[in-house]
Amino acid sequence: MSPVQGLPEDNTGYGTQEYWEKRYASEGQDSSFDWFLQPEYLLPLLEPYLLECGKGKDVRVLMLGCGNSLLGEVMYDAGYHNVVNVDYSAILIAQMRARHAELRPDMQWLEMDIRDLKFNEGDFDVVLDKGTMDAMLTSKGDVWNPPEEDVQNCRKEVEEAVRVLAKQKGSRFLYATFGQPHFRRRYMLGHAGFALTHRDIGPPEGFSYFLYDLQYAAAL
Ligand SMILES: C[S@@+](CC[C@H](N)C(=O)[O-])C[C@H]1O[C@@H](n2cnc3c(N)ncnc32)[C@H](O)[C@@H]1O
Repeated sequence: MSPVQGLPEDNTGYGTQEYWEKRYASEGQDSSFDWFLQPEYLLPLLEPYLLECGKGKDVRVLMLGCGNSLLGEVMYDAGYHNVVNVDYSAILIAQMRARHAELRPDMQWLEMDIRDLKFNEGDFDVVLDKGTMDAMLTSKGDVWNPPEEDVQNCRKEVEEAVRVLAKQKGSRFLYATFGQPHFRRRYMLGHAGFALTHRDIGPPEGFSYFLYDLQYAAAL
């Protein structure tokens, strides 16, 4: 860790489990941090996608690399109670379980590597990634040609997301990121039955973010 509390020595730190464990241990149970796009802005943008599954607020959502973002909490309070949060930081997961146990008893927090999900095929309607693949793309080097290990990590994440998605209308992997299409689309292509689109989701002022939608399209 660098002398500046919470920051890695350089960006490569964001790609290590050790960094996240130390960060969450030093932040403590009551900290919250959204890397970008606050939940009050993002959730209304996500809802039309969530509701396309036809299950209303019972839609089964998997949050990849939840961190201590407020998105899961805001979704729960809006009535989405089938949100499962996973992250590979054991400390973070213990903190989140303790923090939400009383107020949000149905919220699930599981320690898991998103490249090796412990779920069955079809367990979820929507898989969400907000800024987590970004953390796996922090190696030094040429951003146009990332190291093969990073490419494999990202492709494995998406393969796992596609595996656990129900193969039905409305099912999708949604990825919110600062990463522009040239640098991100490549990780989501090549899944039979799925179609990839993306859009600029603002905010209206300042830096633009993107939402990638890898939707199950075979039945459309
Ligand atoms: C940049 S933060 C994003 C947190 C949150 N989604 C947000 O929007 O604020 C990345 C998070 O992903 C987790 N993470 C990174 N790689 C992971 C992996 N392979 N498996 C599970 N969690 C991972 C980190 O522990 C960290 O909590």
